[in-house]
Amino acid sequence: MGRCAGRQLTGRMTQMTQDTARNMTVVVTGATGRTGGRVARAAGAAGLTVRAASRATGFDWGDRSTWAQALRGADAAYLAYPTDVGSPEAARAVGEIAREAVGLGVRRLVLLSARGEERALPTEKGLRESGAQWTIVRAAWFAQNFSEGPLVEELRLGGGLVFPAAEGVREPFVDVRDIADVVVAALTSGDRYVGQEIDVTGPRLLTWGEAIAEIAGATGRGLTYRSVPAREYHAHLTAFGVPPQEADFLVELFEELLDGRNAHLSDGVREVLGREPRDFTDFAREAAGAGTWG
Ligand SMILES: NC(=O)c1ccc[n+]([C@@H]2O[C@H](COP(=O)([O-])OP(=O)(O)OC[C@H]3O[C@@H](n4cnc5c(N)ncnc54)[C@H](OP(=O)(O)O)[C@@H]3O)[C@@H](O)[C@H]2O)c1
Repeated sequence: MGRCAGRQLTGRMTQMTQDTARNMTVVVTGATGRTGGRVARAAGAAGLTVRAASRATGFDWGDRSTWAQALRGADAAYLAYPTDVGSPEAARAVGEIAREAVGLGVRRLVLLSARGEERALPTEKGLRESGAQWTIVRAAWFAQNFSEGPLVEELRLGGGLVFPAAEGVREPFVDVRDIADVVVAALTSGDRYVGQEIDVTGPRLLTWGEAIAEIAGATGRGLTYRSVPAREYHAHLTAFGVPPQEADFLVELFEELLDGRNAHLSDGVREVLGREPRDFTDFAREAAGAGTWG
C-alpha cells in the first residue's frame, strides 16, 4: 500500500473510531477502582459517554434490582467483578448481568479476567453464552497491586513485603493504564475484537523480589522481600484484618496461580494499541514520585 493511501485509510479509521465513540454510552463497573477508574478516564478521553457504576452510584453486584437502572439506554459495559473474577459469585453474577444487559439492548460487553486463572473460566463462559458481543481481557498481575490496595500499607509502613510467591516465580506485571487503553480500543474498534480473548501483560518478567527491588530503588528505601508458604500467608492476611473466609479463597488462589504458569509474555497490548506496554521501572518511578510509599 502506498504511503498516501495508508495515511488516508488511517485517517478514515480514526474518523470511524471518533464517530463510534461519540455515539456510544459505556457503563463502567468498578469505576472507583484500579481498572475501572482508568477505563472511565480513557473512555471519556476517547469521546465516549461514561456512566460510572459502583455502590456510590446505586449499582450493587449483590443486588440484581440495581442492575437495570445502571444499564438501561447504554450501548456497552465494562465488567470488573469485585473481589475476584474467579469466585463462584462472579460466575453467577457475570452470566446473569450479561443476559440482562443483552435483554436491555446493551450488547457490547468487555469482561476483565485473569491470565491463567482456571477458576475464572466459568465466569468467562457465562459471558460467552449470554448472547453478548463479548471481549475478554485477561490481565497479568497488576503493577498497581503494589501501589493501590492492601499491599501498599505494608510497603509504606513496614520494611518490605511478605508474599507467597517463591523466589524463582516470575510474572509480567502489567500497568492498569494499559489494560484500560486496551478495553477502550476494543470498545471503539467496531466488531474487530468481538468474540476474542486478549491477554495483556507488561513487557518484562520480574520476580516479586525484583519488583520490590525496583520500588526500593525508586524510593531510596531499603525495602526487602520475603517469600512465605501460602498457608503461612493466611495468618499474615488475617492479622492485616482480612476476614478468614476471604483469606481462605485468596490463599487457594495464590497457591494455584503462583506456580510459574504465568511466567511468559503475551503481546495483547502491542497488537491492540500498536505500542509497547508500559514498563515496571517507569511505574515504580512515577508512583514513588507521587509519594505512594512514603
Ligand atoms: N489484581 C490483579 O492483579 C488482577 C489481575 C487480573 C484480574 N484481576 C481482576 O480485577 C477485578 C477487580 O478489578 P479492580 O482491581 O479494578 O477493582 P478494585 O480496584 O478492587 O475496585 C473494586 C471496585 O468494585 C466496586 N465494588 C466493590 N464492591 C461492589 C459491589 N458489591 N457492587 C458494585 N461495585 C462494587 C468498588 O467500588 P465501591 O466500593 O465504590 O462500590 C470499586 O470500584 C477482579 O475481578 C480481579 O479478579 C485482578
